[in-house]
Amino acid sequence: MKRITIAIDGYSSCGKSTMAKQLAKEIGYIYVDSGAMYRAITLLALRNHVFATDGTIDHELLRTLLKEAKISFRRNEKSDVAETYLNDENVERDIRTKEVSSHVSPIAALPYVREALVEEQRRLGKDGGIIMDGRDIGTTVFPKAEMKVFVTASSRIRAHRRYDELKQKGQEAPFEEVLKNVEERDYIDSHREVSPLRQAEDAVVLDNSNLTREEQAAWLITLYKERTEA
Ligand code: CDP
Repeated sequence: MKRITIAIDGYSSCGKSTMAKQLAKEIGYIYVDSGAMYRAITLLALRNHVFATDGTIDHELLRTLLKEAKISFRRNEKSDVAETYLNDENVERDIRTKEVSSHVSPIAALPYVREALVEEQRRLGKDGGIIMDGRDIGTTVFPKAEMKVFVTASSRIRAHRRYDELKQKGQEAPFEEVLKNVEERDYIDSHREVSPLRQAEDAVVLDNSNLTREEQAAWLITLYKERTEA
């Protein structure tokens, strides 16, 4: 069967990575979490004090760090999940903190950061058989992807999912704070100049506000079959 390219885009915390991972496993495709790449660069920026106290960014320093950064995904043998590595260090946990979440969107809005990461993402997907999730996968990274999904759900539902996820990891935060972060990132991601978050014309919309994981998985596999059998 033809090994296609699958792009899953959408708002923050709408469960894109869960559904993408599940589908990748089912159909034997590579899964790439493009958000993890923006998060890894943000972690590197925070560790190297790229942000001044007033929030301004030291671009010269960030450009240097970006040139030296090596991001990769390696399978954890025990859990069978791919984890994010930054210059050979496992940063999977460190890139999911509140601090990284509240600094990632300004970093992801920088054209030179996007240029470098998009190049890397295209390299990873050059042979097809890949599912990538993010904000601009169907519009910019793989505009010719054979299957494009645009996921959405109400911001309160998404904030609830993120809140539960953080709690499970022992990183509990007040619900209102989580909601504010979700809404702020949605705003920055949809209003930036370079590759803003928007639905590609040929994307299929999936509002998963009221879908169970099983229903969502079934919906995805049906669409995948349609696209590969056509
Ligand atoms: O997990 P969640 O959906 O909340 O976010 P993520 O996929 O980990 O992405 C974190 C941030 O990276 C987003 O809020 C965007 O600012 C940025 N991002 C992006 O600009 N382009 C992508 N293709 C993926 C993520």
